[in-house]
Amino acid sequence: MSKADPILEPLQSMANLAERVSQERLWGRLMEMARIGAIPGNGVNRQALSDEDIAARRLLTDWAQDRGFGVLVDGIGNLFLRRAGRVPNAPPILTGSHLDSQPRGGRFDGVYGVLAGLEALEALEDAGMTTDRSIVTVAWTNEEGGRFAPGAMGSMVFSGARQLEDCLEVRDAEGVRFGDALSDTLAATPDVEAVDFNFPLAGYVEAHIEQGPVLEAEEVPIGIVTGIQGLRWFEVEVLGETAHAGAAPLRGRRDALQAALAAIQSLNEVMHDELDTVRFTVGRFEVSPNTPNSVAGQVVFTIDLRHPDAVVLERLSEAVRPICEAAAGGCQVQVRETFNRLPCVFDQGVRGLIAESAQSLTLPAIPLPSGAFHDALFLNDICPTGMIFVPCEKGISHNPAENAKPEDLAAGARVLLLTLAKMAAESTR
Ligand code: GLV
Ligand code: MN
Ligand code: MN
Repeated sequence: MSKADPILEPLQSMANLAERVSQERLWGRLMEMARIGAIPGNGVNRQALSDEDIAARRLLTDWAQDRGFGVLVDGIGNLFLRRAGRVPNAPPILTGSHLDSQPRGGRFDGVYGVLAGLEALEALEDAGMTTDRSIVTVAWTNEEGGRFAPGAMGSMVFSGARQLEDCLEVRDAEGVRFGDALSDTLAATPDVEAVDFNFPLAGYVEAHIEQGPVLEAEEVPIGIVTGIQGLRWFEVEVLGETAHAGAAPLRGRRDALQAALAAIQSLNEVMHDELDTVRFTVGRFEVSPNTPNSVAGQVVFTIDLRHPDAVVLERLSEAVRPICEAAAGGCQVQVRETFNRLPCVFDQGVRGLIAESAQSLTLPAIPLPSGAFHDALFLNDICPTGMIFVPCEKGISHNPAENAKPEDLAAGARVLLLTLAKMAAESTR
C-alpha cells in the first residue's frame, strides 16, 4: 500500500467533498422557489412576511425536515436549519441570506445564499461527514426593506443592532403593521422550535450573486468580498397645502410636489463626486392627494445614500436637511432618518479560508467590495464574517431580468461548503 501524501491527501478529500454539491439539486430548488411569487419577465415578488414569503419558508422548512435537519425560529422570524456537529456546546458556524425579494425582484438575490447553505448541509450529509461544530443555514427576515423599512431587520435584531420592539410598529404602504404580519408568518410554521436571539456563533459566511458587473467582465467565478460600503436612509416629508388646480393662483400656492422636485434637484447638485463613488437614490415618491386637478398638499420621498468612506457619508448626510429646507419655499419639511450604518471590513481569517477553498478547487478568485448591503454587515459585529460573490448576468439585480449560470452558482456553493467545513473544525477558532 502506498503511503498517504500529507499534502495531496487533504486536498483530494476536499475536492471529493466539494463534488457532493449537486448543481442540479441547487438549480432545481432555485427554480422551484422562483415559482413562488413569479412575475412576468422571469422575476419574483416575494416581499417580506407576505403570503409568498410564508410559502417560501414553508417549502424550505419541508426540505430541511425531510433531510432530518433541525429547524428553529427566533422572535423576528429568522429561520435556522441546523445540521448537528460532534461537539454539543461549541458555538455553530452560520451561513445563509434571505428569501424575501424586492416587489420587482429577481430569482437569485438572497435565495441563492439560503439554498447554497442548504446545499452545503446536504453535501455534508451525502458525504457522511460529521463536523466538530454544528453548521446552521439561516433565512433572515426582511433583508430587502422594500415593504417594511429599513432592510436587514432580522439580522439587526439578531445581532443586537436594533430592538425587536422598534420593528414591530413599522407599517407598510397599505398600513399593515410589521408585528401583525410577523405573527401571521410565525403561525404558518408551528412545527418549528423557538430559539433566542443572539446565540453565540463561531463565524458567518454568506454567499450572494455579485449584483454588479465585475466578476462577469473579468471572467472570474468567485469574488472574495472585502467589505460593504456605509449607508444612510432618509424619509423626507414635504407639507404644503392642497388647493384647486383651476382656481388657486400660482403665486399664493404652497405646492408640496414642486417643493419636493426643487429639493431633489438641489440634492442632485451635491450628491455626486469626480470618481462616481457616491450612490444617491430617490426610489419612492408619494404624492397626496395625487389627482390631476389638485395642488399637492403632501409629498413623501425616500433617500438611499451610500459611500465606502464614513467621513464622506457623514458630510453628505449632514447636508440633506438644510438642502431640503432651503429648497422648500413656503412648504414645511421634515427629515427622518430610518437607517444608518457605517462601512464594514470583513475578517481577514475568513477571507483567507475562502481564498484557500477556491484555490483548492482551482477556481480563480478576486477580492472586491460590495455596493449592496447584506445581512453579513450586521453579523460582522458579533463574529468573524465573510462573503462569497458569484457572477450574475451584466450585473443586473433588483430587476426581474436578474440571471446567473447554474455552473457559477454551484461553484460558489462548493467554495462555501469547503469554507464552512474548515470553520466548523473546532481547532480553527
Ligand atoms: C440590498 O438589497 C441593498 O439595497 O443593498
Ligand atoms: Mn440580497
Ligand atoms: Mn436585494
